[in-house]
Amino acid sequence: MPEPPSDRTVVSLPLETDTLQRFRTLPPELENLVARRLGGPWRLFVYEAEGTPVAWSFLHLPEQKEWLDSVPTLPGECRETSTFVMPEQRGKGLRAKLLEAQSAFCTDMGLRRHWAIVEKRNGASISSSLRAGGRIAAKSLVIKMLGRNIVEVRITPNGNPRPSILFRRRREVR
Ligand SMILES: CC(C)(COP(=O)(O)OP(=O)(O)OC[C@H]1O[C@@H](n2cnc3c(N)ncnc32)[C@H](O)[C@@H]1OP(=O)(O)O)[C@@H](O)C(=O)NCCC(=O)NCCS
Repeated sequence: MPEPPSDRTVVSLPLETDTLQRFRTLPPELENLVARRLGGPWRLFVYEAEGTPVAWSFLHLPEQKEWLDSVPTLPGECRETSTFVMPEQRGKGLRAKLLEAQSAFCTDMGLRRHWAIVEKRNGASISSSLRAGGRIAAKSLVIKMLGRNIVEVRITPNGNPRPSILFRRRREVR
């Protein structure tokens, strides 16, 4: 695997109105995500190259239980989501760099769990998670109806299936 440039590092940013002003150019998809999440319990991690974000990832850090993609994030946890590496920068281990920076942040903040949901078919995401020191904590089967996740059956490490009904969402965040 090619090495990412050593002179560049990951920046960790709170989501504020001027968060993106430090960058010279901005991918519209990142701009949209930040605009949608302003004021929410989020932190942004960006791998920057010459003033441009080339990879990014968010941590969801709610103070109260909060639902995201039909699965709740609990207080005291930090959940990785919306990670994206620009196509021309893939295969250089940038996601692992983002995850490492997030893990260090979670440790500093005394958060007990850094986790993410990864689809089984996303091999690049699974291998980059394992490369960053992650492990598969549980496997889930999600039953969808009309594009929404309705029932999750989680297979715990002892092999017991544990169904959860997901359609009663207290608060949906994006
Ligand atoms: C998944 C993703 C974040 C991985 O990031 P990354 O920094 O490229 O991860 P890595 O460098 O560790 O590479 C992971 C695997 O992707 C492969 N890969 C996928 N596309 C590649 C490309 N265009 N060039 C080179 N390698 C690529 C690598 O070879 C590597 O495979 P290996 O582990 O078998 O060696 C990135 O592919 C991406 O942004 N995908 C689209 C969005 C997405 O799926 N986000 C994650 C949701 S959980």
